[in-house]
Amino acid sequence: MTARPLFFAANWKMHLAPGEARTYLDRFLTMDAPRDGRTVAFFPPAVSLEAVATRLDGIPHYLVGAQDLHWEAKGAFTGATSVHLARGAGASAALVGHSERRHVFGETDAETNKKVRAALNGGLLVILCVGEQLAEREAGQTAAVVARQLRAGLAGVAPGADLIVAYEPVWAIGTGRNATPEDAGAVHQVIRSVLAEMGLPTDTRVLYGGSVNQGNVAQLLAVPGIDGVLVGGASLDPETWAGLCAATAGS
Ligand code: PGA
Repeated sequence: MTARPLFFAANWKMHLAPGEARTYLDRFLTMDAPRDGRTVAFFPPAVSLEAVATRLDGIPHYLVGAQDLHWEAKGAFTGATSVHLARGAGASAALVGHSERRHVFGETDAETNKKVRAALNGGLLVILCVGEQLAEREAGQTAAVVARQLRAGLAGVAPGADLIVAYEPVWAIGTGRNATPEDAGAVHQVIRSVLAEMGLPTDTRVLYGGSVNQGNVAQLLAVPGIDGVLVGGASLDPETWAGLCAATAGS
């Protein structure tokens, strides 16, 4: 099987303070080495961005990004992180529209779009997360929800944008229930057709996320059109994450 480029993204959520992040990376880097054709991205909490960026500085194919951003450049936004602040801490990427931002913190499609545009304008690689909730899936609305989130989230985005889309069904996040490779593959096709309709490149990388682990990663990566994974729980332990990042589309 020919190797295709793969993207492995670790979303640490509200875990791993700076010292813990350094200990994690010391361990991870004894088990993993950079590989051509594979990117490993870490999304630590904002307070740990600089620790991760410093530890990974100069190592190719590893990168660090913010979990969320505010669209304003600066100002009275207590608790928020701007693109400038994230970049200053070493981030070169950002997750935008993660389901926990949407459903725990009430982020709207319009806010997601402002964040996407601010991050792209500020020179960050954006991973836009989309995905349906369980009731929406059961009502047969998966394609419509994902298409709406894409059309709104990517409004005004230029074809050359440094963009990745992550499909994360909300019912699969942190639940131990993952979409079958067939279900994930079908939604990935919906994503590519919406990208085409919007004039965005259909070879934009599209990741899958939601209860990805060492046991199911190879099966998911074997699906044509799944270019990588976005992983929460299974990225929190350096051994587990290194094992997961060793998976290839053919393994
Ligand atoms: P999970 O989280 O791997 O723990 O399901 C994925 C995510 O929320 O990005």
